[in-house]
Amino acid sequence: QQSATKSIQSKSVTHNDWPIRGVGFLDISPLFLSNKDFDNVLSYWQHRFQGVDLVVGLEARGFILGSAFGQKCSLPFMMMRKKGKLPGTLLSEAYCKEYGRDEMEIQENILSYLPNGTIPKDRPLHVLIVDDVLATGGTICASIELTRKLLLIHNVKNFKISTAIISAIKSLNGKEKIYEKYNDVNIDVILDI
Ligand code: PRP
Ligand code: MG
Repeated sequence: QQSATKSIQSKSVTHNDWPIRGVGFLDISPLFLSNKDFDNVLSYWQHRFQGVDLVVGLEARGFILGSAFGQKCSLPFMMMRKKGKLPGTLLSEAYCKEYGRDEMEIQENILSYLPNGTIPKDRPLHVLIVDDVLATGGTICASIELTRKLLLIHNVKNFKISTAIISAIKSLNGKEKIYEKYNDVNIDVILDI
């Protein structure tokens, strides 16, 4: 974890009062310009999350992180998008985040495209949700709820959900909020700020 933490510390910038006054926005864009630092993060997750079956990436930076991780570990990757971006029959979940309301969506039939054998028969399906920042926890809670809805619709009742997050804003107590609602979800944050 140490090298992943160092990579994030050296390749992220906090922008004060953005997008609104009072919010400190942690921007990890520089991380993607360094293959070595980006890979330190992916390697940490690879070590930390062995036995994952499916990766879910949250728009927008969770797409970059999650799809890179999925590709590195040869795991299927699924997008969870902001409202209005996906075609087809959708499942959606509205939520409150640090600066306003939002809604996440996922395609209802996306699991039918999973490679055969992705859903294990003799142990829980392990889903890893990936995002860049944990603030109030609204986004992650909505993504957990949506993942659960999706799995239950497809009759997958035996599953376990973990979340991989680059950085959490400690003062907003996002982790505690998630644990309150979902005490069985494993939350991994590389850097608490
Ligand atoms: C940011 C960040 C997280 C979310 C965390 O995304 O990337 O996804 O806020 O906030 P929360 O814990 O209070 O829910 P945002 O929705 O602002 O925009 P994005 O599309 O750029 O990811
Ligand atoms: Mg986001």
